[in-house]
Amino acid sequence: MTLSGDRVCLRRWRDEDREAFASMNADARVMQFFRSGLSRVESDAMVDHIEKHFSDRGFGLWAIEVPGVAAFVGFAGLEIPGFSAHFTPCVEVGWRLAFAYWGQGYATEAGRLALRYGFETLALSEIVSFTSASNRRSRAVMERLGMRHDPADDFDYPRLPEGHPLRRHVLYRLGSGRYFGR
Ligand SMILES: CC(C)(COP(=O)(O)OP(=O)(O)OC[C@H]1O[C@@H](n2cnc3c(N)ncnc32)[C@H](O)[C@@H]1OP(=O)(O)O)[C@@H](O)C(=O)NCCC(=O)NCCS
Repeated sequence: MTLSGDRVCLRRWRDEDREAFASMNADARVMQFFRSGLSRVESDAMVDHIEKHFSDRGFGLWAIEVPGVAAFVGFAGLEIPGFSAHFTPCVEVGWRLAFAYWGQGYATEAGRLALRYGFETLALSEIVSFTSASNRRSRAVMERLGMRHDPADDFDYPRLPEGHPLRRHVLYRLGSGRYFGR
């Protein structure tokens, strides 16, 4: 299954994507808001995890293709986070693009396709997104998608150690009522 927008296409992963994915996961600019970059083995393990999520749940983080531009520019999609917090269980929308493809609206277009799938096909009642408080670009994508931030939802990301500068996270939410304009 493929989700197509004006410019981007969300599709299942191919083996050829792994090399480009590993190189973006080793780029310090892309990984600025994560604990560290990923090795090739860690990057491949993440693709395996994504593929397992698709097999278990029927949806996941799709590979993003921009026809006529590049076969793989990153990922966007829906995922069920594997940690506990005050807002879990939930479905999260997320994205990561190779640096060369930032600044062109691809993440926003891909995020919109993922939200549409979540609300219109999966009939979810709410989709959330979260990131380090200082990740301005990711927060801007959430805001362009109409997601709302309530500071009362801010939380400490349990997968980062106490005192880590990226541990404080913001949570954005979008409910189906607001999505459908009810
Ligand atoms: C988060 C991330 C995907 C955002 O990328 P981005 O390029 O800023 O977001 P978009 O693809 O939506 O592009 C938006 C920009 O393109 C511009 N743009 C150009 N053409 C556009 C178009 N047709 N439509 C929309 N925006 C367009 C916008 O004005 C905006 O520019 P600005 O950055 O100067 O404000 C990217 O920074 C990234 O991969 N970061 C690393 C991974 C990460 O942190 N992921 C989130 C962790 S939870």
